[in-house]
Amino acid sequence: MASREIASSDDEPAAPRKGFKPTPEAPYRVVTPDVKDETRPPSPPPETPPAKPKRPQPIKARSPVDNFLAWLSPRSSRESKWMQPLTVRKSHGGDALLDALDAAPRAATDRPLPGVVLDDGFKVPEFAYAALVDVAASPVGVGCQGEVYAVRRPKTGEKLALKVLLRDVATSPGERRCFAREAQLLARMAHPNVCETMGCSTTPGGLPCLLLTWCASDVLRSLKLNDVADPETRHKVAKAWPAAERLRLVAELFGALAYLHSGDALRGVAVVHRDVKPENLGLTDARRLKLLDFGLAVALEKEDAAAFELTGDTGSRRYMAPEVAKQRPYAAPVDVYSAAIVSAEVLGLHRAFAGLSLEDHERRVIDGGLRPRLQASPRLQALFAALWDGDAGKRRDAASARDELAAVVAADSDPLRATPSCACVLS
Ligand SMILES: Nc1ncnc2c1ncn2[C@@H]1O[C@H](COP(=O)(O)OP(=O)(O)O)[C@@H](O)[C@H]1O
Ligand SMILES: [Mg+2]
Repeated sequence: MASREIASSDDEPAAPRKGFKPTPEAPYRVVTPDVKDETRPPSPPPETPPAKPKRPQPIKARSPVDNFLAWLSPRSSRESKWMQPLTVRKSHGGDALLDALDAAPRAATDRPLPGVVLDDGFKVPEFAYAALVDVAASPVGVGCQGEVYAVRRPKTGEKLALKVLLRDVATSPGERRCFAREAQLLARMAHPNVCETMGCSTTPGGLPCLLLTWCASDVLRSLKLNDVADPETRHKVAKAWPAAERLRLVAELFGALAYLHSGDALRGVAVVHRDVKPENLGLTDARRLKLLDFGLAVALEKEDAAAFELTGDTGSRRYMAPEVAKQRPYAAPVDVYSAAIVSAEVLGLHRAFAGLSLEDHERRVIDGGLRPRLQASPRLQALFAALWDGDAGKRRDAASARDELAAVVAADSDPLRATPSCACVLS
């Protein structure tokens, strides 16, 4: 996560459209760090060497996967100034556990998409990178896989986000496959609480990139979760985000997961996000939650029992379900566990497991069943106990969590009684 705040925008959140393809003859203004003159016509990056005569290449038949990966692969090893600045780095405000765990490299996953996803005739739209307007010089957010820049859509000026694969990450074929899978999955999503992509392209520096719905902020930054231990900050956040608003965010999160897990997004194929955490929950200008970052997501065919036998240490430890931490087989319930821990942070305005060392986390949370304290009505407490159950088989699913949250809110005007400052209890 980046330490810098994304400036809030006055733009109306516009409904994203799929298949965005600007017409090539439109007089687009291209602004790059080195081209500031707005009246100049778009020109190729200055470091582009003169074109060399190409040798004829033999035409080989390639599978759709190979084609997609080839298209996402860097087309050139040349350095470009366009996407160079890596000035914004992660900053986590002195939380030992978070610093240690989020800095850890994540497990790569080379799991291919099921045939039903890849071979359904759908093509991820490609957009013309050069047509983008006002490409920001430095990123608004940086994660383990990519950095995100503010850009504008030609003609309409609509603000969008451009996620660019990090240069060092892009050298790994496994990571490129993850990015390809993210593009494939996101392009098929259509849910109000899931970030949409308008298409993919390649930067002039040869890095694959995705055009996304713009999010003015994310839950970590908006709710200042790294700073809510300070009573004054917590008070301000609680005022800016009243309980009803925070409950709505939580309901939207479970709504997004219900959509992913149900198979509605991909004709019978469940999508497991595997990295649900506050910095991956975008917020639009209208404060609507958008689930971001499908870099670790996998698609599982329900009929294929073996597909549910994923194992591995994947995701961020604070939100990691015990079965993942233990490298046991896991599936969609891992997202429910993560979402429950995130929700406790959002509802209670405190950091879960703050101050625990890695060993303490393993011993007390993974093995000992420690969970965040949630000051809430008995009905809401019962729901959370069923959402973060250490036994994945006993965990409630995301759809029933979404429905129960709606029922709780309808039946009780204040399901969040007075919230505690910051505490953990053994459940
Ligand atoms: N659509 C978006 N609009 C605005 N900012 C975004 C958007 N998507 C991501 N970001 C910001 O960029 C950060 C990194 O993006 P993310 O997709 O999570 O990359 P990674 O896969 O590297 O973690 C996010 O935590 C968020 O702050
Ligand atoms: Mg991320």
